Amino acid sequence: MLVNAKEMLDKALAGHYAVPQFNINDLEWTKSVLTACEEEKSPVILGVSMGAGKYMGGFKTVAAMVKAMDASLGITVPVALHLDHGTYDGSYACIEAGFTSIMFDGSHYDIDENVEKTKELVSAAHHLGLSIEAEVGGIGGTEDGVTSSGEKANPDDCKRIADLGVDFLAAGIGNIHGVYPPDWEGLDFTVLAAIKDKIGADLPLVLHGGSGIPEDQIKKAISLGVSKINVNTELQIVFAKATRAYIEAGKDQQGKGYDPRKLLAPGAQAIIDECKSKIAVFGCAGKA
Ligand code: 13P
Repeated sequence: MLVNAKEMLDKALAGHYAVPQFNINDLEWTKSVLTACEEEKSPVILGVSMGAGKYMGGFKTVAAMVKAMDASLGITVPVALHLDHGTYDGSYACIEAGFTSIMFDGSHYDIDENVEKTKELVSAAHHLGLSIEAEVGGIGGTEDGVTSSGEKANPDDCKRIADLGVDFLAAGIGNIHGVYPPDWEGLDFTVLAAIKDKIGADLPLVLHGGSGIPEDQIKKAISLGVSKINVNTELQIVFAKATRAYIEAGKDQQGKGYDPRKLLAPGAQAIIDECKSKIAVFGCAGKA
């Protein structure tokens, strides 16, 4: 059964580890992520971006597929189905489709409008038992064609959003979606500590752009109150690399190697392996 993400993140905050949000892009992706998390006994948040939802045939299709797969595979670990960087309309669409958690990303609005819209969506989500994440300060880089230059969050703005009753908060601290450039300056722990100071000890923080952040910075972020880390790009990279190796080795031309169940198998296994290595770094194995 799918659950909302509040309890798993409150436990992670208290236990000093982070729950992964692995973004899903199709059925194989979903199966690989669920398999890895079940084997490692880790709670998991399945992230669905606006673009991935559209790609998979709409949020209703995604919700039906994830619920059925969770049951059919006999998954026992807590699984939340979460909208990633949702628009205002997208948030309502996911509430209606049966998601168990949403992120409303109002970071591109001015703070007053972000507060107003987030407040309304907190009430709509909580009314139906969903958890809700909000964002302050843009996450840099490009995801699904949406580009942000990456702005560090203002701790006073974070406090205004936190006070609306959001269940967890994404705050820009120099993190970027996609591959980090060689001259990236790293996470800004001074800003992270200032945000935590303002919002209080009880609200879990979310670190977006989890692909490619060095392990020591991940661990330090967790020690400062980050309880959810989002990973998308690294899963895409390992999937593409494994698929490329299969095709370059000519395996699609041997026997029935063109069968999608064979063609996609190395990529699916690569996703399982990468999820397990993230779970080890985030400290969430055995926490289900
Ligand atoms: P990456 O693609 O950089 O891992 O970021 C994922 C993310 O933050 C989704 O919101």
